[in-house]
Amino acid sequence: MAPTKTILRALAGETLPTPPIWMMRQAGRYLPEYKATRAQAGDFLSLCYNPDLAAEVTLQPIRRYGFDAAILFADILLLPQALGADLWFVTGEGPRLSTVQTQADFDKLGPVEDIHETLNPIYETVRILRRELPAETTLIGFAGAPWTVATYMIAGQGTPDQAPAHALRQENNTLFEALLARITAGTIDYLAAQIEAGAEVVKIFDSWAGSLKGEAFQKYALEPAREITAALKAHYPHIPVIGFPREAGDNYIGFAKATGVDCVALDNSVSAAWAAQHVQVDGCVQGNLASSHMVTGGQALVDDARAIVKAFSKGPHIFNLGHGITPDADPDNVQRMIDTVRAG
Ligand code: CP3
Repeated sequence: MAPTKTILRALAGETLPTPPIWMMRQAGRYLPEYKATRAQAGDFLSLCYNPDLAAEVTLQPIRRYGFDAAILFADILLLPQALGADLWFVTGEGPRLSTVQTQADFDKLGPVEDIHETLNPIYETVRILRRELPAETTLIGFAGAPWTVATYMIAGQGTPDQAPAHALRQENNTLFEALLARITAGTIDYLAAQIEAGAEVVKIFDSWAGSLKGEAFQKYALEPAREITAALKAHYPHIPVIGFPREAGDNYIGFAKATGVDCVALDNSVSAAWAAQHVQVDGCVQGNLASSHMVTGGQALVDDARAIVKAFSKGPHIFNLGHGITPDADPDNVQRMIDTVRAG
């Protein structure tokens, strides 16, 4: 049966008169109602593991804006935690994890079969959302891509250049590849469980794919995306997969064909005109308005949003930002973006 929800129609390859729209980090600190619920939960991780409150913050941007998709509220670093890493968030700085740099560190991680014990509340959030979302809204589940997750597990925090992960890749490639394989297997099981709970689409976030060049991109960004997609498609052929190899540049070309993903999400370092010609030829694309417009607003926001809609108008397209919205964004600019896209 052909899908009726707009996001699913675009993912099936349909060119729609108006692109469906959602926004990375649409549940977040730019919204006062998010900050209130987060305060009620106590801290960010308690919010992630509280199904009622996590469902509540997922629904907030749907109520306020009527986006075409909701994205499960969780984080890519919950999987490393479920694999046995320590995880905490330092206010104003970001995530911290116990590091994996030696064989002994790796041996402390648990088996993939055990992840669900930690992640069960996330699946419960998915089940609540499928009951509570409006009938026309698509529910997107997600996970981090193995390379991006590994960069945090190896360094124990976010890094501007992913240097510790590149160092391990070069100095102890066997350990690096064992870690990547563990994360890949965990990601497959985690996404499969989200689908079983009711996720209608899954997205793989490879935020640091751009720091992999040449053969390293093929081995550590493209190949894991292909492996995860193939494993999911074997069981759930009807569930679309969105790949986001952020800042892949020329490596965006052919990524959908090589990995089997149904849609490639684009960051805003590539122009929509270039991506229409080189990436959208293979199917649906998502993106790619600069998230800075959500802070600065004005006519530039309207002009850029219109230009993106026009550039992608001849093929399947889901409108989104090129990266997550930031806490300093103005909620009125989000409404302006939506009005612009929906006005055609
Ligand atoms: O998009 C959504 O609304 C769904 C939920 C979601 C979050 N993180 C919630 C979150 C998703 C899909 C993510 C993905 C994620 N998390 C990525 C990949 C996408 C990207 O942005 O590149 C990465 C690298 C992470 C890891 C992470 N989580 C970092 C580096 C940080 C700290 C930086 C920051 O923005 O605070 C987080 C925290 C985080 N994840 C917040 C939210 C809403 C902010 C936490 C808070 O409320 O204080």
